[in-house]
Amino acid sequence: MKKNLLSGVKPTGTAHIGNYFGAMKQFVDLQNSGNYQCHFMIADYHALNLIQDQEQMKNLTLELALDYLAIGLDPKKSILFKQSDVSAHTELAWIFDTLVSMPYLMRAHAFKDAEAKDKEISVGTFNYPVLMAADILLYNTDVVPIGQDQKQHVEYARDIAQKFNHTFIGSKIDCVNRHDEIFKLPEDLILKDVAVVPGIDGRKMSKSYNNIIPLFASREEIQKTVMGIVTDSGSDIPANVYAIHKLFKTEAELKLLYDANKGKYKALKEALIEDIDAFIKPMRERRAKLAQNPTMVHSILLDGAKRAKDIADKKLQEIKHAIGVL
Ligand code: TRP
Repeated sequence: MKKNLLSGVKPTGTAHIGNYFGAMKQFVDLQNSGNYQCHFMIADYHALNLIQDQEQMKNLTLELALDYLAIGLDPKKSILFKQSDVSAHTELAWIFDTLVSMPYLMRAHAFKDAEAKDKEISVGTFNYPVLMAADILLYNTDVVPIGQDQKQHVEYARDIAQKFNHTFIGSKIDCVNRHDEIFKLPEDLILKDVAVVPGIDGRKMSKSYNNIIPLFASREEIQKTVMGIVTDSGSDIPANVYAIHKLFKTEAELKLLYDANKGKYKALKEALIEDIDAFIKPMRERRAKLAQNPTMVHSILLDGAKRAKDIADKKLQEIKHAIGVL
């Protein structure tokens, strides 16, 4: 039996090569390993905490769907869907809300950070981990591939699963007979941040640092961004150029190139432009083709939603039965 895998991404804007090497590529590898039934979700209801504009929400959702498809997530192999299409997520989140205490949620890193910054946070942001637990637990998920920053959220999902099992099932079965528990406990699979992808200024690549290389950049954009990589004059090897180059070529290949071009920053940047462009081109072309047919993309998401709903609704029936409303 294949293990169940689920992950989600919020539709919040331009994917960059840091996102790709840090997470998206692993999604594709996990899908293609054949070991998992994969569920990849567009977490639009989570994003609603940040994006409160109709046009933007529509556009960003379509953009993320295009990104998913262009990198090689395959609707024939994986279930690709939008969170808001499967109402069981928010319904289960409510059920969990009644089990989870406020002090427990106040320990969440994301909440503490917002509080430390004196931000006024919405109830939705406060409850973020509860909705995420519902996302995960509706699909009998075994594994949740995520970045390090999301580890605590998977712990919340495990705790909530245990609390539910204990409250509604635990007392009715003897300790040995655990097979009719409702939720199994998911495990995180922490994606090795490929040594933290550096941006064009050498710091971690991040939209908030304004140092990204977009994943689907045109050749001109690649040229412009690479020419803007900050170089320290004086050394033979421009460190920031090399650090990014390492994502696209082996160290042996780079040794030849960098030995032959000691101190020639322009030539090295030009070689990097070629390598990035060769890498991005097929994905960029696939994305452009898909973008011409948004109707097809929407129908892929609808089909995914149908399959997700089948699983989630069945699970929700079990849950509703267990709590006594059905
Ligand atoms: N919180 C995740 C993030 O910001 C997105 C997400 C929502 C998610 N639901 C999920 C990830 C369920 C894994 C599983 O990256």
